[in-house]
Amino acid sequence: MSQRTLAIIKPDAVRRKLIGEIITAITQAGFHIVGLKLVHMTKEQAESFYDVHRGRFFFEELTRFMSSGPVVVMVLQKEQAVEDFRSLIGATDPTEAAAGTIRHRFGTSKGENAIHGSDSLESAEREIAFFFSSIELVDHAP
Ligand code: RTP
Ligand code: MG
Repeated sequence: MSQRTLAIIKPDAVRRKLIGEIITAITQAGFHIVGLKLVHMTKEQAESFYDVHRGRFFFEELTRFMSSGPVVVMVLQKEQAVEDFRSLIGATDPTEAAAGTIRHRFGTSKGENAIHGSDSLESAEREIAFFFSSIELVDHAP
């Protein structure tokens, strides 16, 4: 079934001029971009986006990092988009991510791991609505 998921090219990858290479990897893997924009989140917006992690030991570092510079936010569509995109990005820690995954190729640490992908269909719906209104999303015939 065709699904939508949310991807974020994180501030480390934007700073290292990797936007183009990462989008190429995503589209060559068969994902259709149905929404895309550049956003520089405030600390409060990053805290709200990662609300599920509030209270965890890495929450402060994570939200400081995610608000440290612009990010590219995308809505991606594909069959099994949520699961397939998690496979494409690889494990959270780039040193544990499989060869060829985006985090293995472009991440530098568990904190600065280049890319975000929604972890479930429910998270995807919430995260898409967090960043995009319906007028900012295009139709892609599944
Ligand atoms: P993401 O949400 O960014 O796609 O990453 P994820 O699902 O693979 O990992 P998650 O458990 O949701 O953690 C969110 C982000 O927090 C940072 N983190 N640091 N230092 C640590 O032990 C630690 N654990 C998590 C990572 O940047 C992770 O992407
Ligand atoms: Mg996550």
